[in-house]
Amino acid sequence: MAKEPRLVVVSNRLPVVLEKNGNSQRLKPGSGGLVTALTPILKDRGGIWIGWLGTTERLSIRQLRTILGPASEEWGFRLYPVLLSDEEVEQFYYGFANEVLWPLFHDLQTRCRFDPAYWRSYVAVNAKYARVVARHTQEDDLVWIHDYHLMGLSAALKEMGVKRQYAFFLHIPFPPPDLFLKLPWREQLLRMLLQNDLIAFQTLRDRRNFLGSLRVLDRRTAVSGRGPAIKVTSMGYTANVAHLPISIDFKGFSRQAKQPDVAAQAKQLKETYHCKHLIIGVDRLDYTKGIPERLNAFRLALKRYPELRGNTTLVQIVVPSRERVPAYGALKGEIDALVGQINGEFTQDGWVPVVYRYQSIPRDELVAHYRAADVALVTPLKDGMNLVCKEYCACQVEDPGVLILSEFAGAASQLGGGALLVNPYDAEGMADALYRALTMPLSQRRRRMRLLRRNITQEDIFWWVDNFLRTAASKALRDFPESTLPPLFPRGRRTIRQQEAE
Ligand code: UDP
Ligand code: G6P
Repeated sequence: MAKEPRLVVVSNRLPVVLEKNGNSQRLKPGSGGLVTALTPILKDRGGIWIGWLGTTERLSIRQLRTILGPASEEWGFRLYPVLLSDEEVEQFYYGFANEVLWPLFHDLQTRCRFDPAYWRSYVAVNAKYARVVARHTQEDDLVWIHDYHLMGLSAALKEMGVKRQYAFFLHIPFPPPDLFLKLPWREQLLRMLLQNDLIAFQTLRDRRNFLGSLRVLDRRTAVSGRGPAIKVTSMGYTANVAHLPISIDFKGFSRQAKQPDVAAQAKQLKETYHCKHLIIGVDRLDYTKGIPERLNAFRLALKRYPELRGNTTLVQIVVPSRERVPAYGALKGEIDALVGQINGEFTQDGWVPVVYRYQSIPRDELVAHYRAADVALVTPLKDGMNLVCKEYCACQVEDPGVLILSEFAGAASQLGGGALLVNPYDAEGMADALYRALTMPLSQRRRRMRLLRRNITQEDIFWWVDNFLRTAASKALRDFPESTLPPLFPRGRRTIRQQEAE
């Protein structure tokens, strides 16, 4: 008898990272938009999340059970680990994912290292994930694959003869054809992607770029249908191709921003930073986020508009990320130096222009910063969506601030009406936008923020997931059964590595 289909999320990482502290180990929440977006969905419904624990530690089944059992119980969905070796992390994660796909898909081709060993590892690690997915899923399950690390997963599963429903979502941009076609493994990668029943992108821009590359490599590529989901036949495959902008748990953020303790924290912040105007920037350490460009624009604003000196502070939170990739280390040095220069140039008695925090911060503190900020500077050079800008708006529950948003963030296609859009490469334009935001009358701030909040409330994360699941499986989230937790390791006490060697 067919079992009820379950929702199985697969991403490179689990939403938690295993951190070693002396002899003990603890789980800490992962960072980045993928984790923020998907966690409330699985918490709401239960299901399965398969991914890497962020460590290369060799762990026995008993250790994994001790670590992941309670976490699964607490969160209400099952976490299944994929274990990666040092070499796999080096070549697959740091190598192909983060030194080839990440820069190429963000239009930064000169940062790519097209090393064939990276590609071989990418294929092998996708096959490894496939073995774990095959073990923990059943025929009717919807296997929902996330992001650029796992573009070969459904192809690997199909090669193993594993029949499931496969849906893929790309969280990052898809580059224009003249950039994508530089990839030595372009055709293999497209063929892999086309083996999903559904391939979904953040925006129409990305979907068009994907179709453009297909058309270059197969002139007979055919498209039928219209609207957010279309049917594409190319290279001998047929798949549905959609665009659907990911979002946040708007109500969750908004509710938290209204909590009395968060309100009190927010009120305290301007006193702590000794400023009248607070500007916030929140990003992972990443060269796509345009952090040096933003700091330079702030410096220019302080030069052009002297009345900002002594009362306007930029709090820049940078969450450590991918520190072993050389370009990220160099970026860290560049940011450190710029912050030092700006503070050296402008600091006055009792006031520092840039407060720079290189750390991950707890959610309530983040929400308090969002609530307190008069302006959010969200200026990536290119971004699949960007959730920080949506989170900021959700937390504007009193005396609304202004969102300054890069034209090149996927979110600009939804939020362009209420935000001040800027070109992150244009320092003068950004400095002027900052001044305009800080001097904007209350009535205009209210009108703009109302528009932004309405848009994000209507298209929140639950809207996104329902639309995705309808397109992928003709179901909404509530149509998936609230699953009880399946056993963590159903097959005895062999190590994961033994199981994987089978
Ligand atoms: N974030 C985090 N830890 C922090 C600060 C922020 O995980 O200390 C979250 C933030 O709330 C947001 C995510 O990181 O949900 C960043 O997502 P975004 O889409 O803006 O960019 P990404 O990092 O995914 O490229
Ligand atoms: C972005 C990517 C995610 C990734 C996250 C954090 O949001 O789209 O797939 O998980 O960054 O990056 P990391 O390399 O630490 O997983």
